[in-house]
Amino acid sequence: MQIVRSSEELALARAAIAGSLALVPTMGALHVGHLALVEEAKRRADNVAASLFVNPTQFGANEDFGRYPRREAEDARMLEEAACALLWIPSVEDIYPEGFSTSIHVGGVSDRWEGEARPGHFDGVATVVAKLLLSVRPDVAVFGEKDFQQLAVIRRMVADLNIPVEIAAVPTVREEDGLALSSRNAYLSQDERSRAAALPRALAEARTAILSGAPVNDALRHAKQALVDAGFLRIDYLALVDAATLEPVETPAGDMRLIAAAIIGATRLIDNLAV
Ligand code: PAJ
Repeated sequence: MQIVRSSEELALARAAIAGSLALVPTMGALHVGHLALVEEAKRRADNVAASLFVNPTQFGANEDFGRYPRREAEDARMLEEAACALLWIPSVEDIYPEGFSTSIHVGGVSDRWEGEARPGHFDGVATVVAKLLLSVRPDVAVFGEKDFQQLAVIRRMVADLNIPVEIAAVPTVREEDGLALSSRNAYLSQDERSRAAALPRALAEARTAILSGAPVNDALRHAKQALVDAGFLRIDYLALVDAATLEPVETPAGDMRLIAAAIIGATRLIDNLAV
């Protein structure tokens, strides 16, 4: 696996790649969920590239940019073992050189939920993902359903701007007790970690209730109560939404998604489930 850092090194390495290329963008602190994206990338292209960049512009002022886990050497080892051909680890200056002034705002799908709880977050995501895609020029880019709204924002941006790439999605990889793998799970104490499984459980119970005809608002209220009972301190949202538009659904129909964000201890967890 070749590791490159500057845009110049990347351009040279990219030019040397023969055949199709799939890109897996990440912020590192890799886990089995990220590796599932690499496996999907391998199925879809002759070569796999990954990027590792903790993007400052998608973190709010009071968020965890400073303490986000950084494990570059271990990440590189995992990607090499997964037969990744190229790893791009740009610096903040490589991505945002002096004078950088562009921001991409994707309206509509980014307005609610994460967009509301984390103002500016999706502008940061959209801008960096556009830059990663235009720098690496992959045939396919692979993202996780774990960040369901992010996936919708990226699909919208790629369609609106005619960015020549196919977007592939991978289902959420979970721990045995249902908790979605996340680099942020490292923040959880042992006690918080065991209580965190209440989040996927609440979503699963809400899905069962909705599918068996319970009123949507009752199902959501019970799920929120279950989170409070498990010790979650704040629920940013727990909603049933249309899977394409991310608009709230009151009368179940078509492809839907239960989405949630809640805080346990000092850690904010997000999850979602197809309905
Ligand atoms: P990061 O949180 O590192 O996630 C990188 C990719 O891995 C995302 O597409 C995410 O949805 C996926 N992923 C994370 N946990 C997963 C799990 N348990 N199962 C399946 N896929 C999972 O998302 C980002 O980084 C950034 O916002 C990024 C897109 C790289 C832009 O900075």
